[in-house]
Amino acid sequence: MILEYLQPDPNLWDGLTVVMRAAYYAATLGAAGLVLVLIALGDHLQEEELARVRRWIVMAAAAGLVLSFAAFGLRAMVLSKDGFAGLARFELYPVIARSRIGDAFFIRVAGLLLVMAAAARGRWALPVAAVGAVAICASYTAMGHTMLYRPRQELAGLVMVHLLAVSFWIASLPVLRLVLARPYPAEATPVFRAFSRQAIIIVPLLAAIGLVAAWYLVGRIDLLLTSWYGWGLIAKVALVSMMLGLGAWHRWRAVPDLEAGVYASAERLRITLTVEMGLALLVLYAAAEMVSVHPIDYGHRIPS
Ligand code: HEM
Repeated sequence: MILEYLQPDPNLWDGLTVVMRAAYYAATLGAAGLVLVLIALGDHLQEEELARVRRWIVMAAAAGLVLSFAAFGLRAMVLSKDGFAGLARFELYPVIARSRIGDAFFIRVAGLLLVMAAAARGRWALPVAAVGAVAICASYTAMGHTMLYRPRQELAGLVMVHLLAVSFWIASLPVLRLVLARPYPAEATPVFRAFSRQAIIIVPLLAAIGLVAAWYLVGRIDLLLTSWYGWGLIAKVALVSMMLGLGAWHRWRAVPDLEAGVYASAERLRITLTVEMGLALLVLYAAAEMVSVHPIDYGHRIPS
């Protein structure tokens, strides 16, 4: 939306596509990430917390489905250049379904339906939901810059692993906030400790993978500063740095305070986790803005 209005001839529907994209990132990656959190931290969660997380997965997946269908309709409006009347241009839907947007849509919808299996109790439920989480993250490599720029396979692999790690990180935040509601907040420390042991590997990994993908896509530092894509990336990395700062504060200050039973540490932690969740939403928005414009072609754009 912001970058659309910085270009000549801005279009409201193209701008709304960015907002829609950020919203379905949050819902779909949230659903995928909650499944990964359930796998990684489930043993440390109490029965009612597990039930709550399972409900969140179903709700996030349902929101992801609604938003994915809405994005399809929005695409018809953009293509028809006819505003709301474009929604009734039914001949456009098969065209969209057969495009890359359609490829990504069908993989994502399959993933969203599979993650809903997490609501079931059987031993099969989590493995099925995990397949869904991978499908959701993979769906983003069926469209966007990984389809438009070389090296296509490397970029697709990097973005998929980036998104699996991103989804785990962002979905862990509401779950950590949830366990702080235990009658004695110090009881939440084993969950924080278990999360820290995983995050210390996963978070640097996702940042490193993001930087390698950025290096492939942008190519040269001067091209970073002379493209809207580059500025979107800089804004995103600045927001991620704030998340990292808060994460470090949690690990080295807030959680030890909680463990030591320091009065008010749980409340402070709850507030800073909420701030970190807000930052994560802004990072998702920055990612949607970035994907709405193109890196400068330094000879790596795949001819269409
Ligand atoms: C240092 C940290 C990070 C860097 C350098 C980075 C960089 C990148 C790059 C270069 C891409 C490929 C974008 C494209 O296809 O044009 C990407 C994709 C993405 N990143 Fe990150 N990222 C970082 C952290 C994060 C975090 C923390 C989040 C979420 C909270 C996030 C969310 C996303 C999303 C949703 C996409 C998918 C875009 C798409 O293909 O639809 N990233 N990232």
